Amino acid sequence: MRMYDIIHKKRNGGELSEEEIRFFIEGYTEGEIPDYQAAAFCMAVYFQGMTAKETSELTLAMAESGDQINLGGVDGFTVDKHSTGGVGDKTSLIVAPIVASCGGKVAKMSGRGLGHTGGTVDKLESIPGFRTELNPDEFIKQVNDIGLCIVGQTGELAPADKKLYALRDVTATVESISLIASSIMSKKLAAGSNGIVLDVKTGSGAFMKTAEESEKLAKEMVSIGRSAGRSVTAVITNMDIPLGDSVGNSLEVIEAIKTLKGEGESELTEVCLTLAAQMLCMVTGEDEKTCFSMAKGAIDDGSALNKLREMISAQGGNAGVVDDYSLFKQPKYTAEIFSECDGYIEHTDAEKIGIASVILGAGREKKGDPIDPSAGIVLKKKTGDRVEKGDTLAVFYTDDESKIEEAKQEFFDAFTFGSEKPQPQKLIYKIIK
Ligand code: URA
Repeated sequence: MRMYDIIHKKRNGGELSEEEIRFFIEGYTEGEIPDYQAAAFCMAVYFQGMTAKETSELTLAMAESGDQINLGGVDGFTVDKHSTGGVGDKTSLIVAPIVASCGGKVAKMSGRGLGHTGGTVDKLESIPGFRTELNPDEFIKQVNDIGLCIVGQTGELAPADKKLYALRDVTATVESISLIASSIMSKKLAAGSNGIVLDVKTGSGAFMKTAEESEKLAKEMVSIGRSAGRSVTAVITNMDIPLGDSVGNSLEVIEAIKTLKGEGESELTEVCLTLAAQMLCMVTGEDEKTCFSMAKGAIDDGSALNKLREMISAQGGNAGVVDDYSLFKQPKYTAEIFSECDGYIEHTDAEKIGIASVILGAGREKKGDPIDPSAGIVLKKKTGDRVEKGDTLAVFYTDDESKIEEAKQEFFDAFTFGSEKPQPQKLIYKIIK
């Protein structure tokens, strides 16, 4: 078999066999197939697409290219959640304790933030003492003991995807539905859970900017998961404006805690209850309405908040943060940002808010950059609100005072004002099973 012939076949719109796909993935992972041929392959897929069968086979080949987590030692139905990424997206910190407090087993591997989107591991590490690196035995034991453990990725999950994703990033081949779906699902399948709920974000702060593109991606991922024998549901949710009012690591943990206390913003609470309900449908076999009430009950009776406390303690963190937010590292500077315009906020561009928060120190431009856990933005006004000149739009938090002006420029660019109150946006677009 020759890589040249595989590229040629795909370029001309042919359907690749399982053997051809495995030849490519195994050869590329081993370093036998060079980057230039892999790049040509990705570009051929970008233009010609892949059939559902090809996409499934590509996903399985990538999932099997490295370590696969065996959750066989967990007693009960394991369920995972994945978000395609967004700004202010702290849903995992809320959803996972809700589901665990209702009997689900949440064994979750999360990532760090990159670019304008945040990552759950960075958020958890803003809790003093919290360990996100556990060995596999500690991970399984904690899931069996308390039903919940969230760690950073251990071992080499889907190394073929890691290599291919880095290549796609520099060859303009990221935006292919088949390649995105197989990239995300290869890691989720390797992470081992029986059930997977996907939060597919749509809008200005998301990867997929339109509901149509997001639906295509969601359907593709659900179909891949099914063929691999997993239960998969995708929920398409709004990421046109940041989710909740806080962007930044400890700020988002505090907002998650408030939400678990029943004091959260209604839209954030609604998205979290919807995701948790879908996970509970898989765990309990009950209908959506019953599971939504179950999830809501776990907030109302405090059991989800207690589950978060248990997880923080089990992973070495100071669970006192739940009741005393001053135990988080405090920023050196805070700055109120005042509106320079009058009118209704027509749009709040989530990506620009994310970038402003990275400038303040909350995120990293490249892998390995240090971050400031206390940096970020708390929004006081969002899309649909009426604002007068001089009203507080947000509060910035940072250790680097010199960054405030630059962040402010990016932040102001995120807003457009108008004279009419805009129509409220949809929060949950679709649930695909
Ligand atoms: N996230 C991934 O993991 N892979 C992609 O291709 C896009 C987003």
